[in-house]
Amino acid sequence: MINKHARKIAAEIVSNKRVGTYHHMVFEVGDLAAFVRPGNFVAVSVGGEASSMILRRAFAVHRASAKTHIGGILELVVAPHGGGSKWLTSLPNGFKVDMVGPLGTSFGIPTENVRALLVGGGYGSAPLFGLAEVLKNRGSRVDMVLGASSAAKIYAPIEGKRSVNSMTITTDDGSAGLHGRVSEFLPEIIEKNNIEVIYSCGPMGMLAAISEIAALMQIPHQCAVEESMACGIGVCMTCVIPMKDADGVIKMQRSCIEGPVVSSERVIWNSNGKIPAGTWGEL
Ligand SMILES: Cc1cc2nc3c(=O)[nH]c(=O)nc-3n(C[C@H](O)[C@H](O)[C@H](O)COP(=O)(O)OP(=O)(O)OC[C@H]3O[C@@H](n4cnc5c(N)ncnc54)[C@H](O)[C@@H]3O)c2cc1C
Ligand code: FES
Repeated sequence: MINKHARKIAAEIVSNKRVGTYHHMVFEVGDLAAFVRPGNFVAVSVGGEASSMILRRAFAVHRASAKTHIGGILELVVAPHGGGSKWLTSLPNGFKVDMVGPLGTSFGIPTENVRALLVGGGYGSAPLFGLAEVLKNRGSRVDMVLGASSAAKIYAPIEGKRSVNSMTITTDDGSAGLHGRVSEFLPEIIEKNNIEVIYSCGPMGMLAAISEIAALMQIPHQCAVEESMACGIGVCMTCVIPMKDADGVIKMQRSCIEGPVVSSERVIWNSNGKIPAGTWGEL
């Protein structure tokens, strides 16, 4: 089912700042902010009224605050990539963006204190800072690992670093932090900090690698999957990926409705865009 709090609003841009290769954008969203949970996303209409870009673009919510001096706000971290994201990041303050949200599932927050490891790849770090704040406020220890291809693609705001107990940066080219892929350093970090739960967000390849480590080390792992989403509200089926249902049956399921946050053991990783053998309804 679609997130029951979802609705369509005109979200006014109150700030749009370039941070490295990303844009940190703040929107005035009124009381919608109160319903946003870490892991939720919004679907934004791009290009303006006469645009040929008819599909909405999905963006993970970086943070949402219900009570600020201007009311409810929502923050996004956007990488200018193709037509839609370049248009969005070029907009001035005061512009009203057509936004649908909050959408999708959110990260499950344990009722007891846990030692949590948050792992983000590229702009996948965006939703993790809001999650870190919620976990810290509950008294949990939070360690974070952020990886990207190069230093410019690490999104790690200064104030975000304050909301975690430790921050490890990795880059594929060694231009910042540890030289290598995020997953190479995880087993050591997990052991050193006695990690009890892993949360992750980033490219599917990275999520697959973390899922393998989590399964081997028997640590629960929730990840926010990122499959192309053309509608974000469960209508178009663009976003289906093979996932096990509650009875263990593999089905092609919509990641905008079942996810984006799912328990990693449900996902059939490395299916390479194909329908795995044994999938329900397979012809
Ligand atoms: C859950 C989720 C969270 C995301 N969070 C972020 C984030 O925090 N920051 C960020 O920068 N980006 C995020 N993205 C990526 C973002 O949605 C866009 O894909 C990205 O900004 C590129 O869009 P574009 O218009 O610039 O590029 P373009 O290449 O012009 O367009 C890409 C878009 O085209 C559509 N599309 C592409 N292929 C197909 C297809 N085969 N069928 C139907 N539609 C198609 C999709 O709507 C897709 O989003 C997220 C994506 C998802 C699914
Ligand atoms: S994006 Fe359309 S069904 Fe999921």
